[in-house]
Amino acid sequence: MAQTSLLSLFLLFLLLQTGAALELTAPPTHRATLGADTLIPCTFRVETPPVDPRHLAIFWYFQDKEIFNVISTVGSSNPRLSLNRDTIRAGVASLSIANVEISDGGLYRCSVLYSPDRRYKEVRLDIQAPPRITLTNNIVIKDKESALSGAITGFYPVDIDIKWLREGEILAGGTELPPQRNADGTYRVTSTVTIVPTEGNRNQNFSIRVQHESLSAPLQEDFQLLYGALPSAAILYEPFKLNMQQILTCRVWGFYPESITVNWFVNGTRVESATVRRVNGSAVESKFLFLPEAETRGTELSCEVQHKTLPEPLVQTLLVQIPDVSVRHRGAVRVAAILTLLIAGVVFIVTYYIIQQRKYQPKVREIVRSDYGVFSLEADNFSPKEITISWEVAQPAGSAKYQPLGASPLMSANQDGSFNVTSTCEHLRDKVSGNEPFSLRATVQHARLKQAVCKEWNSDNEEYQKYLLSVPVMGEITRPTLYHNKEAALLCPISGFFPINLTVTWYKKEKEGQELTPLSPSEMYKIPEISPHKQEDKKFTVTASLVFSPSLTRDNGAEFICRVAHPSLEGAIEKSSGPIHVTLACPKVNEFRIAGDWGLSLEVEEFFPRDIGISWEVVLGNKGKVTSLPCECNISANADGTYRATSACHCLRDQLDSLHTLRVSVQHEALGVPICKGLTQGKGQVYIISMG
Ligand SMILES: *[C@@H]1O[C@H](CO)[C@@H](O)[C@H](O)[C@H]1NC(C)=O
Ligand SMILES: *[C@@H]1O[C@H](CO)[C@@H](O)[C@H](O)[C@H]1NC(C)=O
Ligand SMILES: *[C@@H]1O[C@H](CO)[C@@H](O)[C@H](O)[C@H]1NC(C)=O
Repeated sequence: MAQTSLLSLFLLFLLLQTGAALELTAPPTHRATLGADTLIPCTFRVETPPVDPRHLAIFWYFQDKEIFNVISTVGSSNPRLSLNRDTIRAGVASLSIANVEISDGGLYRCSVLYSPDRRYKEVRLDIQAPPRITLTNNIVIKDKESALSGAITGFYPVDIDIKWLREGEILAGGTELPPQRNADGTYRVTSTVTIVPTEGNRNQNFSIRVQHESLSAPLQEDFQLLYGALPSAAILYEPFKLNMQQILTCRVWGFYPESITVNWFVNGTRVESATVRRVNGSAVESKFLFLPEAETRGTELSCEVQHKTLPEPLVQTLLVQIPDVSVRHRGAVRVAAILTLLIAGVVFIVTYYIIQQRKYQPKVREIVRSDYGVFSLEADNFSPKEITISWEVAQPAGSAKYQPLGASPLMSANQDGSFNVTSTCEHLRDKVSGNEPFSLRATVQHARLKQAVCKEWNSDNEEYQKYLLSVPVMGEITRPTLYHNKEAALLCPISGFFPINLTVTWYKKEKEGQELTPLSPSEMYKIPEISPHKQEDKKFTVTASLVFSPSLTRDNGAEFICRVAHPSLEGAIEKSSGPIHVTLACPKVNEFRIAGDWGLSLEVEEFFPRDIGISWEVVLGNKGKVTSLPCECNISANADGTYRATSACHCLRDQLDSLHTLRVSVQHEALGVPICKGLTQGKGQVYIISMG
């Protein structure tokens, strides 16, 4: 059900789009390479070319903030943005970005205003940066678990696929640490694979291969294994004597390749004054001077060796001996270690909770205003579905007198189960006055938000009044069939205006005249006062009327004009009834009159047009036999253009004995049904009955 209504909404949207005088084309996504220049495409077409630059304005938004426009001469504060003005007339509104940065990636909106139409399209700019490979370790120990490692740097986005190969075959067990962010927004990651190299691997080709969406083909670095030898280390010293300085030696030997680092640490702090001496290609010695003192009891001295063949540094440790103190010290270290673990655990759980909490927090956009003074707010990707968006308005702007507004939400669901909502607030027409600026505030509340999110919009420096005004729309004047001398009304419907103060004036233009005569309320022309009603959208609607009894001579061919003045209009607008035609006048039938000895006559007055049918008939006896009677009819014209007729029947004497009912019927174009008039005789008296 909801889906079909969404679909029809979508179809309606398409319909509106295609029927528009302005069409905008832009792809949903566009790709750019980090550091390169790019052009985000956006083109438009107007219904009636060529493009008139006076009606045109182009705006670009990035993450809902205006970043560029082509109305003022200052395009943008960002010198990397530009728009080619020479091709605007050809309908190109594409935005050029020089030296693309990672932070340029995101949602852009190309908005073209070709007065009065406005269209926009959203384009997501995806930034890509290709990875580089640096082999960080190919030194291995024969027949021992050895790690090969490589650093892959400078790539974006984060998704990357790294494989290790031997002679073109994939090596199982490659692992990566979580990617790290570089200062320029790109990522780096270290990949490691552990192998147990044999003599047979010595001349084989190994590779590290990287696939990334920025690369058209995989990137590969080939290398061969370098067989190393593990260092051994030992600390050489004399037994400690209080206040007796001695030289401590850390001897390291048997390693390959030659490059090696040896450091001394006292209680975990590196000793700067140590010296390193190379004995030969596979042996070094590091020495430092140590003075045992009372307070240095329990001090931990260590020699740390770092070598390419070692996944972890090799550490030799020596405790400055005083057994009881050192036992207590160790206990303290253990307690500290357990405490540290506990704290780390708590921090982890809290962080996880916060991340989960944030995941479906509504992302609240800025308040958006449409051209018709309608305000709306979007919140995206939230769950659960329950969300409250409340609107308030304050006038004057910045005053604390906030007044609540009604609003209607439109929800939609995303594929990941989250929801989006667009809340449109009721029109401000009857909530604010057009005399001073106002501010609008929307407050979003949701279970995942710790506190409500507020968005504001101020009408400062804008023509706030224009959002409220609405221009009246006039319908055609409705004309009923007009009868001579019979009251009728001309109706003039006016709708969609705001504010309520609307003035209606009726004018008459005589047949073949040019002059408009304003009609003031009088006996002849009644002009009821208008009483506008509020429509659902808070605009007003009214039907103005002019009530009069048209006359054949006075009004035939005249025009009536309804003229409307309103604050939203620069001049007045009007509608004409067109020449009116009084085509009919209803006959008036008088009473029977005696005509001669055995005759009766009937007078019919004020009819138009001239054609009229008056027929006489009798019903004889009780059996109801009907016979037509001959009669004569005289028609003459009246001064007001209508006609009168006299019809007489002189042959009633022959019928008198058996006469039961005498009936006359009058037929005329202005009558729906004929008018009938009858006489019934009984017991020597004549009764008049009306059958009309
Ligand atoms: C390793 O690669 C080189 C150059 O591509 C090639 O000449 C050599 O034969 C390869 N070695 C083996 C063992 O396949
Ligand atoms: C290097 O020196 C160490 C220690 O003095 C000795 O054991 C070793 O044989 C020497 N190696 C070479 C290649 O001279
Ligand atoms: C090293 O730590 C031990 C125990 O915490 C302490 O007794 C000793 O004085 C420290 N030594 C130095 C040189 O700071």
